Amino acid sequence: MATAAIERPKVRTSPTAYQALKDHYDQHPEDKLNHPHKWDVSRSDIYANNNWHAIFREMREAGPLHYIPESPFGPYWAVVGHKAIQHIEALPDIFSSSWEHGGITILNRLTEEELAERGIEERRELPMFIAMDRPEHTGQRRTVAPKFTPSGMAEMEGEIRQRTGELLDSLPRGEKFDWVDKVSIELTTGMLAILFGFPWEDRRLLTFWSDWSGDTELATVRDLDEVRWEILQEMAAYFQSLWVERTQDKEPGDDLISMMIHSDAMNQMSPQEFMGNLILLIVGGNDTTRNSMSGFVYQLDKNPDQRELFEQNPDIIPNAVQEMLRMQTPLAHMRRTCVEDTEVFGQQIKAGDKVVLWYISANRDEEVFENPDKLDLARENARRHIAFGYGIHRCVGARLAELQLRVLLEEMHKRRMRVNVVGEIERVRANFVHGFRKLEVEIDEF
Ligand code: HEM
Repeated sequence: MATAAIERPKVRTSPTAYQALKDHYDQHPEDKLNHPHKWDVSRSDIYANNNWHAIFREMREAGPLHYIPESPFGPYWAVVGHKAIQHIEALPDIFSSSWEHGGITILNRLTEEELAERGIEERRELPMFIAMDRPEHTGQRRTVAPKFTPSGMAEMEGEIRQRTGELLDSLPRGEKFDWVDKVSIELTTGMLAILFGFPWEDRRLLTFWSDWSGDTELATVRDLDEVRWEILQEMAAYFQSLWVERTQDKEPGDDLISMMIHSDAMNQMSPQEFMGNLILLIVGGNDTTRNSMSGFVYQLDKNPDQRELFEQNPDIIPNAVQEMLRMQTPLAHMRRTCVEDTEVFGQQIKAGDKVVLWYISANRDEEVFENPDKLDLARENARRHIAFGYGIHRCVGARLAELQLRVLLEEMHKRRMRVNVVGEIERVRANFVHGFRKLEVEIDEF
């Protein structure tokens, strides 16, 4: 592919979203969010401290959905049952994903008054198809879906396998290191860089941006929300430069950006929509896959019986991927907004109500998964997890994520690599992205 050299815009690379929020709370402890309701599962400490299980269990025992009248994100319905989430996701015309109604996270959209008070003239929202309803959603999803077909995946497998193998071979032996930094981030950003033809040397920017855009709590702090917007603008400018570069290519490449530029539906997309969708793909595929890679190692370490099964029987790997996705559930929730009064499992939901689908709970629903807190790599119905969502918005990148995770496990197995967690474990403090910031490990052999 002949690519004209385009100068990239200047972008910042610090502080990380995590550091910014931590520094802010150190200086302004009064800004820490308050969660008086015992079932307000929007509180991020339960994910950071890994003690969310009992709260959701109690909620499931009491019913599949509950109204939480008070939270820092306003009132919301907490949907915690597997069936109820599938039911709601199967009714996308009643339960909207549209950003105009509030989008797909628990975060509130700023009201007109708040916008005026902050002196914001135009809404700071990038339209993306995950936050659209039919028919717009259908057309825009079609521009990218062909890249993720089984044949599209088969084309990528060789390169993913080679890079995964090289990375595993380069890891230190007999010495403690952070699996998140050296493996999960490296493999995920590398894969996205290949998929998008993103400049290889800048691939860590993807993590930096993804962290800033996916943190719902950070966005509740006004000053940090300003910084967040500036960083997202820088990210958009960077992608704009890639877009200009690809439009100048004489022959379209087979990367996702070129595919989008040259697709028919592109004619109906505004430049903002193009940018929004690009960012969606980058962010959607980033911390989710990264946290699965960390979660897998953590789970194998915590379950020696299952680790032995994996080591003795690599045929189990495809099912193990599903079971470990169920256990990890890298996105704790997605949100919908009800657009007409309706009844769900005996509860009256009103037009305008915020409905939060807690996948993290549904994937531990005892009605579907026997002994749900147990990792069982041979679990017969592991595939019924809804870590990728359900219905028309089900993750478009699911096959790619599964491919990467399967290849990682296969390549680890080939090298007889056993990864022991030997040091610090630090989890993400957030109610949306569910995963690890740090996981100190040492490699051994089996
Ligand atoms: C949608 C999870 C990997 C791109 C979603 C949804 C979830 C999800 C829960 C929303 C479904 C809904 O609203 O019903 C995950 C997990 C992943 C992963 C757990 C990894 C383990 C990826 C990858 C990509 C990607 C690798 C792309 C490179 C997207 C896109 C959507 C989406 C574009 C929007 C689909 C739509 O609205 O039609 N994902 N994802 N995801 N994901 Fe993923």
